[in-house]
Amino acid sequence: MKLKYFVVLLLLFYFSFAQSQSFDTDEIQKRIDNMSLHDKIGQLNQIDGRGSLDDLKELIREGMVGSVMNITDPQVVNELQTIACEKTCAKIPLIFARDVVHGFRTILPIPLAQAATFDPELIKEGAKIAATEATEHGVKWAFAPMIDISRDARWGRIAESFGEDTYLTQKMAVAVVEGFQGNSLSNKTSVAACVKHFIGYGAAEGGRDYNTTFIPERIIREVYLPPFEQAIKAGCASLMTAFNSNNGIPVAGNKFLLKELLHNEISFKGVTVSDWGAISEMITQGFVEDRKSAGEKAINTGVDMDMSSKIYIQFLEKLIEEKKVKESTLDSAVYRLLKLKQALNLFQYPYTDTTKPKETFSKNHLDIAYKIAQKSIVLLKNERETLPLSATVKKILVVGPLADSPHDQLGTWNMDGEEDKTQTPIMSLEKLYGNKVKIQYIKGLNYSRDADKSQFSEIKKEALDVDVIIAFVGEEAILTGEAHSMSDLNLQGVQSELVTELSMLGKPLVTVIMAGRPLTIEKELNCSNAVLYVWHPGTMGGPAIADILFGKTNPEGKLPVTFPRNVGQIPIYYNHYNIGRPATGKEKTIQEIPLNARQSVLGHSSYYLDSGSIPLFPFGFGLSYSQFEIGNLKLLAKNLNKTDTLIICIDITNKGRFAGSETLQLYTSDLVADVVRPIKELKGFIKVFLKPDEQKNVKFTLPISSLAYWSSDMKYAVESGKFKVFVGQDSQSGMEDFFTVK
Ligand code: NOJ
Repeated sequence: MKLKYFVVLLLLFYFSFAQSQSFDTDEIQKRIDNMSLHDKIGQLNQIDGRGSLDDLKELIREGMVGSVMNITDPQVVNELQTIACEKTCAKIPLIFARDVVHGFRTILPIPLAQAATFDPELIKEGAKIAATEATEHGVKWAFAPMIDISRDARWGRIAESFGEDTYLTQKMAVAVVEGFQGNSLSNKTSVAACVKHFIGYGAAEGGRDYNTTFIPERIIREVYLPPFEQAIKAGCASLMTAFNSNNGIPVAGNKFLLKELLHNEISFKGVTVSDWGAISEMITQGFVEDRKSAGEKAINTGVDMDMSSKIYIQFLEKLIEEKKVKESTLDSAVYRLLKLKQALNLFQYPYTDTTKPKETFSKNHLDIAYKIAQKSIVLLKNERETLPLSATVKKILVVGPLADSPHDQLGTWNMDGEEDKTQTPIMSLEKLYGNKVKIQYIKGLNYSRDADKSQFSEIKKEALDVDVIIAFVGEEAILTGEAHSMSDLNLQGVQSELVTELSMLGKPLVTVIMAGRPLTIEKELNCSNAVLYVWHPGTMGGPAIADILFGKTNPEGKLPVTFPRNVGQIPIYYNHYNIGRPATGKEKTIQEIPLNARQSVLGHSSYYLDSGSIPLFPFGFGLSYSQFEIGNLKLLAKNLNKTDTLIICIDITNKGRFAGSETLQLYTSDLVADVVRPIKELKGFIKVFLKPDEQKNVKFTLPISSLAYWSSDMKYAVESGKFKVFVGQDSQSGMEDFFTVK
């Protein structure tokens, strides 16, 4: 009886829900049915709000704008919204968009640094505060997360990415989408996420931004697509198409990528927006002849919204008249956009509340920014426990252009951060530890590219009676990000000479590197006693670094990308494919080659004569002030079916003096397959916090289905056979065992 009652209730609930859904759908459809062609096309036009405000108002009034980018003054947002909602025929609210790439006003560490936390829950918190701050300023659409797999440190946009690994990027993508969108897009503090750039943009040839890509379908599917798939599964509301042409076809006109893959296969139902001017760039790419055909191509391929090239408003009406574009194609695009506006509750609440006190820069927001910065810092070297600074340290000399550079520590895509609110390392060292130690600060160089060595002699004099020297070097924010690719990844200016000279002063040297990408730092690494890689750490970078230096917190960041020894080693990433002649590690290097050696004396393996085969640091690497030991790797089964889940257990013990967190990483490798497979692939990670001497048993679950790959005839399946499993503290070390899939 009770069950019957429950079923009836369930059905009632279902029907009322279904009705409300269809009511919503009808509502949007009805609006579209009553809109003129002109007004519908206007909705698909996204415009930059940084030009003349009067011109923008006029365009909105004429029904020619659906979305405005880059206005963050809530008064102006409301003014424009009033025009859209009250003075136009269609009376449809605008959606205000912004690149909220790593925080809004409270700037979080750059995404590459966020990935180094290996802590998606925390990254979700970061996205949540960014959304709160953005919405307080009228922004309801964030052009983020950027989830391009990035395997080339020359590419300036690697800073905006979550690094080289597909699995890690998936986790971070979902975290940001969930943080931005909350449990409902209709919440006042939710913004619509926009995953970008679909797809393959990070594989720009030579790491030079906007360059062409050549990614085979299998790699698109296995490496570049999964983060998009997962973000879409998590409900991501929108997606930005990429600038690049892949295998000769620009994404904005690429039917296979946008229609087959994105719409048909992974069933993306949200809004697609072109990247800035990418529709018109198909002309420069030599793919279409003129603006009109560019518009035809893009809308027919599935690009809903035209970011800034104004092609849709100029040509769509004509294209429909000429029957080159169906009105139903336009209607579907408008439908998706209006559904998004509806989901964001913009029809009901188009305005931004300007009376409510803002949470922007609240203590909670700063705390989260601090926590992310602290957990993203990677300890690369710590000779004889140079760090943390001990109680015997009474005087320190701080040098380097990045110790006090608020602008640079905020990193790329700092659209809304405030330098005045930014806490630099020198400020924090003085504020937090100035009563314990004497801190002497000499900049040494005024900025990262500076070549003026005139302050070096003063540094040498000051160094005479200090206990330790801390050098803050790296790269300025402007050397990273969009259109800022570099072919030389050594420290710029005379920073390297500065570090070398400091290392010769007979004092312990701690080098802190602030950068937006992996720099080639082998030389500086060798002459420093300790090295911290702090990325561009955002508003709260200063206290996060100071606390790590003094041991209030323990470093736990892990590299989300392989660090090459030199640019010539690029591309270098941990999950490369198996090859027939892998390096043995015993190869002769250039200095060891005998004179007049014959061709065959060097053997025949895959390495560089001058820089070997191994990177400076592998993916997943990062030290701690503690020493963790792993042991007792156990696979709870050795023969599994394709539908099984394998449980893998391992013990970890903190053998050090400090409490700390370690990230255990699970990798697998498919030993024999129908196509050559990557040498290993990350399949899981778990962060463990351990007090000194504490031991924990950590349990990984590996669904066998996650071993599927695209076979030679492009079928996605798990193949029977033998697999290797590795669990370790980075991608190159740890314990291993084998299992078989039936
Ligand atoms: C171009 C960039 O590629 C994209 O990531 C960004 O969102 C847009 N400009 C808008 O600023």
